[in-house]
Amino acid sequence: MGKSINNNGKYHKKLVIGLFGFGVVGEGLYKALQQTSSLNATIKKVCIKHPGKKRNAPEELFTTDKNELLDDEEINVIVEVINESEPAFDIVSTALQNGKHVVSASKKMIAEHLPAILDLQKKTGKSFLCEAAACASIPVIRNLEEYYDNDLLHSLKAIVNGSTNFILTKMFEEDLDFKEALLLAQQLGFAESDPSLDVEGWDAVNKWTILLAHAYGNIVHPNDIVFNGIQNIQLSDAVVAKEKHYDIKLVAQAKKLLNGKVAAFVLPQFVKHDEPLSFVKNEYNGVVIESNFADKQFFYGKGAGSFPTASAVLSDISALRYNYRYEYKKLYHHDVPEISDDVYIKTYISFDDWAFIPKEKFEWIEEWHADAERKYLIGVLPFSELINNTWWKENNTSLILAPEPIIEDVEIRRIKKKSLELAGI
Ligand code: HSE
Repeated sequence: MGKSINNNGKYHKKLVIGLFGFGVVGEGLYKALQQTSSLNATIKKVCIKHPGKKRNAPEELFTTDKNELLDDEEINVIVEVINESEPAFDIVSTALQNGKHVVSASKKMIAEHLPAILDLQKKTGKSFLCEAAACASIPVIRNLEEYYDNDLLHSLKAIVNGSTNFILTKMFEEDLDFKEALLLAQQLGFAESDPSLDVEGWDAVNKWTILLAHAYGNIVHPNDIVFNGIQNIQLSDAVVAKEKHYDIKLVAQAKKLLNGKVAAFVLPQFVKHDEPLSFVKNEYNGVVIESNFADKQFFYGKGAGSFPTASAVLSDISALRYNYRYEYKKLYHHDVPEISDDVYIKTYISFDDWAFIPKEKFEWIEEWHADAERKYLIGVLPFSELINNTWWKENNTSLILAPEPIIEDVEIRRIKKKSLELAGI
């Protein structure tokens, strides 16, 4: 990289950026960089898909030819903030192979291509940074990567999608209907261009796989994680939540189990009012990390939107000045725990007809309300039931986890033994 001397006589690497994408995040970055002259970074060219659009930047900055950026030797950093996953991967891999550092915010692309990106980072020796790809403004990737040792990290519980959190807040606290709330999230630039990625939980699970890699070293494809979005949640669920003094949130979770494995999933969940995640409203995200000695810590910040996302991209660009790269310490220097399928989960399920619910699959059912048109139960299911079957998200069935949903195998055996003893068996 080129170097220049600043007023204090200190060397700073000069960063010459090729930017892919000038949407919500790209334009945010462009404006943010203009206000951050200390960074010694300039955008040389911006590659866009649709040249006809009116943009708030000089026309000569733009091109539709990706090679103008990828083959330009002066450009030493490619920032990629486009929408489509496959073209994004093509840009990222060519850029790394051409000897450029890369900063990306494309969570879907990263989640789907993480093994290849790791190989490319190793092979080329270049940095691939993606703080903006999970929880936008919250520096959670770098914290997981640098601060938390695998053994100390008990659990992570997080709200990682701003749009769904925004919609739930607007629906249940401000009485907007779903469509109005989604439209607002789109207008404010929080939602994906295909908002079903937000609403059905895809965006959250993509982010969760990225965070799992940095938290525990698991390289897992999003298709292999149990997840759902908020599309099945009903107003009647919100009424039950209110009665029980809970909020409903889309929560991503990972927990180290007594058997050394990790339970991980992204599902709607009841959250108690005194839990930190209950405090996370609108487009904000939050991450609760529990570790052996520090106990609980709570990270909170804006999880979507132009400047909050651009701020994380900016911070990655800044980190490139001192050649920062993720070492994936948990993956390369620790034993990576297996993702577990042998836990049990306590859950609320509401449904239209008992015929849709395989009652025999439950370990036990603690509560059921069958008289109203919309029925519900609270019970304990083997987690494998969610992995192997889909009845729990079909036929208008709504599954919302209990506040402390994970029950370990040993605990189930202890509870069963106790109930047999009490029954005198
Ligand atoms: N659609 C995403 C969200 C944008 O709502 O969280 C930020 O990644």
